[in-house]
Amino acid sequence: HRKYVAFKPVAKTDRRWPDKVIETAPTWCAVDLRDGNQALVKPMSVAQKTRMFELLVKLGFKEIEIGFPAASQPDFDFCRKLIEEDRIPEDVKIQVLTQARPELIERTYEALAGARKAIVHVYNSTSTVQREQVFGLDRDGIRDIAVNGAKLVRDIAARHPETEWTFQYSPESFTGTELDFAAEVIDAVSEVWRPEEGQPMIINLPATVEMATPNVFADQIEWICDNIKRREHISISVHTHNDRGCAVAAAELAVMAGADRVEGTLMGNGERTGNMDLVTMAMNLYSQGIDPTLDLSGMAEITEVVEACTEISTHPRHPYAGELVFTAFSGSHQDAIRKCLARRKDGEIWNVAYLPIDPFDVGRRYEEVVRINSQSGKGGVAYVLERDYNISLPRWLQIEFSKVVQREAETNGGEIDSLTIHRLFEDRYLKV
Ligand code: KIV
Ligand code: ZN
Repeated sequence: HRKYVAFKPVAKTDRRWPDKVIETAPTWCAVDLRDGNQALVKPMSVAQKTRMFELLVKLGFKEIEIGFPAASQPDFDFCRKLIEEDRIPEDVKIQVLTQARPELIERTYEALAGARKAIVHVYNSTSTVQREQVFGLDRDGIRDIAVNGAKLVRDIAARHPETEWTFQYSPESFTGTELDFAAEVIDAVSEVWRPEEGQPMIINLPATVEMATPNVFADQIEWICDNIKRREHISISVHTHNDRGCAVAAAELAVMAGADRVEGTLMGNGERTGNMDLVTMAMNLYSQGIDPTLDLSGMAEITEVVEACTEISTHPRHPYAGELVFTAFSGSHQDAIRKCLARRKDGEIWNVAYLPIDPFDVGRRYEEVVRINSQSGKGGVAYVLERDYNISLPRWLQIEFSKVVQREAETNGGEIDSLTIHRLFEDRYLKV
C-alpha cells in the first residue's frame, strides 16, 4: 500500500550537463512582487511594493515581475502607478503575469499602456494531472489554449508599437508534463510568435511543484533545449519552487543543462516552501568566482527591506544572509579561522577555514565571526581580547583564562560579550 511513487527519470543517454560548469550568471528575473506577494498571509501594501521594487532595481535586476494585474486590482493599480509616475528605469523591463484567457490578456494590456519595455507572461497548465482532473481536456484542448493566448498576445501588442514587447510563455506544472507534449506546446507557441523574425521570446519552465531530484529537472531542461524548434531564438528560463528543499540546486543544474534565465525571489519567499532564493544562487555563483551581475554587498539592507515588505523574518541560518552564518562558537573552528585570517594577505584567493566567503563581501564585520559561549576555547577568547583590546596573551594564559570565561558562560548559559570578557580579565589579572 504505497501512497507515493518515485518520479521516473528522463530517458536520456547523451546527458551532457553533468560535465558543464556555470561560466556566466543567467539573466535574472525577480518575481517577489508576484509569486512572492501572492503567497503572503498579508499581501504587500503599495508602500511595501514600492520599497521592494526600488530595492530590486538597486540590486541590479533588469527584469522584474510586478504582479498579475488582470487578476488583482491592487496589482493593476501598482502597475499603473509605476508607469504613470515614471518609476521604471529605462534599462528595466517590467513583467506581468496573465492566464491564457482572452479577457485577462486584454486587461493585462490595459495595465501596461504606456510602458517603455514590458514582458507579457502568459501561462496555462499542461501537466497530466491538471489536464485530466482539473480541466477535463485532452492534449489538443490544452495546446489550443496556449496557442489562442499566444495569438491574442501577439495581436494586441502589434497595436501598441510604442512599447518594446517581450513575450513569455510558461507551461505551468511543466515538471508534471510529458516532455514530448511540453515540446509540442512550446513549438506551437513559437510558431505564433516567430522569434526568428525578431520578436523577443522567453519560454519559462516552472517546477510549479518540485517533484523530483534536481538532476531529473536538469535532464528535463536539457531534453527541452535539444528537442524544441527555434531554440537559438528563444531564451529558456526556469522557475523553481522549493517543495523538496532543492530549488536553488535545481536552478543551478538547469543552468548547467542549458537554461539562460532564472526566476526567483529574495530569500526565497513564495508559494508553500517558497520560490528559488535569488540571494543564495547569486552568492553561490559569486563564491565560485562568477560575477553574479547583482550587487549583494549590502546584505543588512536587503534583509531589512525584505523583512519589512514580506513581514517574514530571515532565518539566522539563511545562507549568506542569516545572523549566524559567519559565526563560530566552537573552539576549534575559532582557532582555525583566527590562524587563517592572521596569515591571509590582501589580494589572495579566499582560503579561510569554515568561512565559505569573506563576510566583508556581504557587508558583515569580522567582529561577528568569533563569538564566545561555553563551547568556545582559548583561541576564541584570545582572539576577542586581541581584536577589541589589543591584549595578546601567551599560550599558558590563554589556556588558564579561557577556563575562567568558560565557567562564566556555563553559569550564565548563553553568550559572553567582549566587554564581559575584558572585565573578567581585568578582575583577575589587572586589578591590584
Ligand atoms: O510556479 C509557477 O508555475 C508559476 C507560473 C505562473 C510561472 O508561478
Ligand atoms: Zn511560481
